Amino acid sequence: MIKYKTEEEIAVMREGGKIHAKILKKVAQKVKAGVKTQELNDYAEKLIDEAGGVGSFFGYQSDDASKPYPASLCVSINEEIVHGIPNHDGNRILFEGDIVSLDMGFTYSLTGSPQVRPMITDAAITVPVGKISDDAATLIRATYEALEKGINTMQIGGHIGDIGAAIMQVAMKYNLGIIEGLSGHGVGYSVHEEPYVPNRAERGEGPELREGLVIAIEPMFSLGSREIKRLSDGYTFITRDKSLSAHFEHTVAVTKNGIEVLTR
Ligand code: MF3
Ligand code: CO
Ligand code: CO
Repeated sequence: MIKYKTEEEIAVMREGGKIHAKILKKVAQKVKAGVKTQELNDYAEKLIDEAGGVGSFFGYQSDDASKPYPASLCVSINEEIVHGIPNHDGNRILFEGDIVSLDMGFTYSLTGSPQVRPMITDAAITVPVGKISDDAATLIRATYEALEKGINTMQIGGHIGDIGAAIMQVAMKYNLGIIEGLSGHGVGYSVHEEPYVPNRAERGEGPELREGLVIAIEPMFSLGSREIKRLSDGYTFITRDKSLSAHFEHTVAVTKNGIEVLTR
């Protein structure tokens, strides 16, 4: 069942989303060769804490995983697509030429509206570590463009499938693989809600885009295989052929005034 959000709830997500975007930007600025993935997570946690929010992923139990997620930031490097766990031995570091997806969930409540429950936004970016290959740069640019095109095609009365159709066109334009088996989702009360928001779809398919719908749109492209494999840590998804992948994500609301990106 899709849980449509009230205007008050979207107002909380709007405030939370702005802070969320700032935190993600600050974490991205720390990305450089030699930095430990654990340091990125710790910095994100410090900023989340200072903003009076809560990290939505820490302790999150996804349906298909055997243990709760142990961090607040997903750090997924190169062939890792999503849900990479920042390393706790403190020895996983970034190297020049890597590309790294930073994905964060931010739970926020407005002190002024105690009647509204805490609301979650979800957003991710992929950033280069120093100088990267032309192919990697194209992959990042194309995945970002797919997210923008997916958002720009949305209109009240349209359908979820419109988004996947727009994303698919961008993948085809750059001859990139659309990762299979992972998708966007409804978001707000929980990290993952209905509806499922596929990155490959046909226009007009799926639930209608109507007021109160809030979704996380997250194109994931690769330079090679579309197939995924899960690592033994229970969370990290990689491309089966270990080709590079990129991932961008925004939380987007359908309101009576139109389409609104909450995590910009
Ligand atoms: N942010 C991820 C998504 O976009 C979900 C992370 S859940 C976790 O769907 F448990 F892996 F953190
Ligand atoms: Co996410
Ligand atoms: Co998501």
